[in-house]
Amino acid sequence: MPKTLSKVRIFADRDTACRSLAADLARQIASINEQGRNAVLGLATGNTPLPFYKELVRLHREEDLSFARVTTFNLDEYLGLTRDHPESYWSFMHDKLFDHIDIPAGNVHIPSGQPEDIESHCADYEQAIRDAGGIDFQLLGIGRTGHIGFNEPGSPRESRTRRIELDPVTRQDAAPAFDGLENVPTHAITMGCGTILEARRIGLLAFGQKKASIVREAIEGPITAEVSASFLQDHPDAAFYLDREAAGEL
Ligand code: F6R
Repeated sequence: MPKTLSKVRIFADRDTACRSLAADLARQIASINEQGRNAVLGLATGNTPLPFYKELVRLHREEDLSFARVTTFNLDEYLGLTRDHPESYWSFMHDKLFDHIDIPAGNVHIPSGQPEDIESHCADYEQAIRDAGGIDFQLLGIGRTGHIGFNEPGSPRESRTRRIELDPVTRQDAAPAFDGLENVPTHAITMGCGTILEARRIGLLAFGQKKASIVREAIEGPITAEVSASFLQDHPDAAFYLDREAAGEL
């Protein structure tokens, strides 16, 4: 039996999974705001969280979910892209979420794709997370290399926000969006595994048959830097939200 079965939630489809996680998050934001402080969220990009962001926008429009006292930190950004590049994670987050909710612009943090000094930018990002009081809830997807954020195979458990070289598999998966492999950035800035694992609560979304084998490795395989998502196995409050296809090999 998988050792982390209690942390795995399997849904009929991705929309149902995203609605469930969004409802949980809305409750968490409300309860943190009631304590008189901002809720601090770590956010992910990619195809996987699209229905999740759609549901957050719906909850904002139709059910009064407010982001006025929410602070966000995105996991990563491609190095070399300007903010207004259509494939930048800055563009993604504004198109899919921030432009449709009431979050104050100053509460949004996304690593820069063009920092003047990469090392100090990464150190400042870590400091901003600490200054905000740490991350209450971290949203994750999983890459076919097992990465969370862009923590490609070999990323140590203690790693912090830093520059990373993207794995060839990750670049291949991004090629259609960039109209060809040659246009996909070779490097990114990513929060480290250590940064992510300090979040008080973590929800990882994974959908579709394409993710089934890496989901199995992350949940049932050894805890190893070769599959950074496997580090979630010993996090005290991390859950995998899967559809039936992504759970197909468990
Ligand atoms: C995105 C991120 C990545 C993605 C992963 C899955 O900010 O950090 O870890 O979550 O690459 O991407 P999709 O969802 O496009 O399959």
